[in-house]
Amino acid sequence: MVSSQPCLLCALVLLAFIAVSSTAATMMQNIEITGGKPTIRNGGNVVDLRLEQSSASGFQSKQEYLFARVDMQIKLPAGDSAGTVTTFYMSSQGNAHDEIDLEFLGNETGQPYVLHTNVYAQGNGKKEMQFYLWFDPTAAYHTYSILWNPQHIIFYVDRRPIRVFTNKQAVGVPFPTSQPMRVYASIWNADDWATQGGRVKTNWANAPFIASYSNFRAIPCPSSSKSPLCGQQPSAPVSATSSSGGGNGQGLKQVPTVDDWTRKMTRLLQRKYMIYNYCADVNRFAQGLPPECSN
Ligand SMILES: *[C@@H]1O[C@H](CO)[C@@H](O)[C@H](O)[C@H]1NC(C)=O
Repeated sequence: MVSSQPCLLCALVLLAFIAVSSTAATMMQNIEITGGKPTIRNGGNVVDLRLEQSSASGFQSKQEYLFARVDMQIKLPAGDSAGTVTTFYMSSQGNAHDEIDLEFLGNETGQPYVLHTNVYAQGNGKKEMQFYLWFDPTAAYHTYSILWNPQHIIFYVDRRPIRVFTNKQAVGVPFPTSQPMRVYASIWNADDWATQGGRVKTNWANAPFIASYSNFRAIPCPSSSKSPLCGQQPSAPVSATSSSGGGNGQGLKQVPTVDDWTRKMTRLLQRKYMIYNYCADVNRFAQGLPPECSN
């Protein structure tokens, strides 16, 4: 009996290993290249997007999602990256589209990148918030995530929430609830606006600019999901319009709330690292701030 125990353990470990390796897809199995000639490394788990004067490059997820949690590890172009924009975002197709953006605005050597975030719902954007990062995003991979569920859109940097955009349909603010989105990544030249308001141009002598993406993961988060990664709050109000197919979060009757940790961490990080908040831009919204900005 005693001698058979190690073998039982071996068998269990082996079984677990087989189960994990057979379900683990490489990043390349979940995406398709949409432009340029990226380098694909590490058995399909790292994609190096290249920006040259003659070509930008990008990829997109094969699947579309109606609510999801997506994570990507990204290492940004080092040195003089002024004028470049490296992106990781979700978007639906067609008119009145929905979009959730993370964009990294390059800078001169030694100057900080800016993380630009935005949300579009039914074609309405103008909800920008910008941040400095608390690390050098060119020195190593860091994990950037979007959680999109019927209650909130939450942006994370290394699993810390930096921004929460809450579903306030209850007070008439559009929120993406019905158009499936794909995940996109790209690097492109935006030297007409990106760096120091467009004053600093891309120096093509430094091309190619390479952004490395790794370990893309997307977890569908339908409104019925109980996965902790989907982050739905148990106290959430039920969808008023939920019918046979399950609610899609449209027509939430109350404004949802986030948990304490998320609220406190977001507030802390915004106090320390946020450099632009559309909700504080009274000159831009001279007619009054958008309704979601109150409270
Ligand atoms: C670039 O560096 C300048 C100077 O430190 C800073 O003001 C700016 O926010 C940085 N980022 C961009 C995208 O211009």
